[in-house]
Amino acid sequence: MLDCVLITDDEALRRQVRSIVQGPESSDRLVLELSDSASRLPRERITDILSANPRVVFVDLGDSVMGLRVLEVLSKEAPEVTLIAAGPDLAADSLLRVIRAGASEYLPRPFAAEDLSQAFTRIRHRLGKTRAEDANTRGQVITLFSSKGGVGVTTISVNLAVVLKELTGKSTIVLDLAPMLGTVALSIGLQPRFSYLDVIQNFHRVDEELFRSFLEQHESGVHVLASPPGAEGQVPSMDEVLGLLRFCRRHYANVVVDAGHDLTDAVEVAFRDADHRLIVATPELPALRNVKRAMEILSTNGSDGKSAPRIILNQYAEGLGVTVAEVEKGLGLSVDTVVDRDSSLISESINLGRPAVLLKKSSFERSLTDLGARITGNGQSDGQKVGLLKALLRPFRSNGSAAATTETN
Ligand SMILES: Nc1ncnc2c1ncn2[C@@H]1O[C@H](COP(=O)(O)OP(=O)(O)OP(=O)(O)O)[C@@H](O)[C@H]1O
Ligand SMILES: [Mg+2]
Repeated sequence: MLDCVLITDDEALRRQVRSIVQGPESSDRLVLELSDSASRLPRERITDILSANPRVVFVDLGDSVMGLRVLEVLSKEAPEVTLIAAGPDLAADSLLRVIRAGASEYLPRPFAAEDLSQAFTRIRHRLGKTRAEDANTRGQVITLFSSKGGVGVTTISVNLAVVLKELTGKSTIVLDLAPMLGTVALSIGLQPRFSYLDVIQNFHRVDEELFRSFLEQHESGVHVLASPPGAEGQVPSMDEVLGLLRFCRRHYANVVVDAGHDLTDAVEVAFRDADHRLIVATPELPALRNVKRAMEILSTNGSDGKSAPRIILNQYAEGLGVTVAEVEKGLGLSVDTVVDRDSSLISESINLGRPAVLLKKSSFERSLTDLGARITGNGQSDGQKVGLLKALLRPFRSNGSAAATTETN
């Protein structure tokens, strides 16, 4: 059942909306009707609308786009509400403004009952799906940031995602948040056709089906939302990152974010919004110095109620001239996970387009599995723990013929 609000001074539109929302087949209802057009709606009426707690608001803009303000305020104050706008026949640039202001559908005058009915059916369908998902899931976000370029944050992100998928048996996505030319997809042999920019540009109409069409699927069952190719590169805004994370959380149980090494606002928000924060560094002075700096800037030492970031020391090897104990002493922080340098394993993984944790037993695979197990907490059963072993024994399939996986979200 959808609770709806109607804002219009047009009697014909009012009758059409009533007949659709309150029709004999409908279980939806109009919880509030206001008889102004949006351009003349007093500010305090917005409070009435929000108090009515609707799922859908029909907003008649009247004869001009003056009432856009109402759409903007509603989408800011109640982003979960779906807005159906109506108004004059608009040129493309004005229509874009309406969509940007938050409308999911737009109905130009003169109204055809059929168009209104179809728009409402689409919304019902979309919200029906979303509600079911909301009830069951809110995925966890694991954001990885690196203290310096080239330390291995992409390698760790991808392999951790595979481990989480195997340990939990649940849907898993890697979001490559590099502003351009991120290598998450390429590192496992995928050639992305779309990027997170496509999701951002289509926020106003992305449903599950469209969202999935922007993703690539690896044979491990892990999905990837890639970063944009070079020319389009632009840093997403903080709101856009939060929107992406909201989408990913809604559709995936495990959301692994490769946040790269540039401490932009976008990365900061992806770090702060995460349930688990990981900082990847290598045992060398510049990388370690930057860990301290990143910790200061991100200032997340439990102050926001979440656990402090975990430090992952990657590409570690005996004889480097620095021990783990010395790294910890230098940082004044403990290292959560040590991942050994294994150049031949990683090269083989890149050549085969297969994550290293799926290639063979190795100390690399053990470190990542232990890390994944700590992140998933007690949620793993013994049956699920054999997942990685099963994956190792599973016959290898070439990319593009991804093995069908049964996913429980
Ligand atoms: N544990 C490891 N052992 C051996 N080589 C590794 C290991 N981890 C990463 N590498 C290698 O280090 C290089 C950099 O790795 P990766 O691309 O994951 O780093 P990054 O931090 O994501 O880099 P960028 O800053 O460019 O995004 C790659 O050649 C990768 O194969
Ligand atoms: Mg990278």
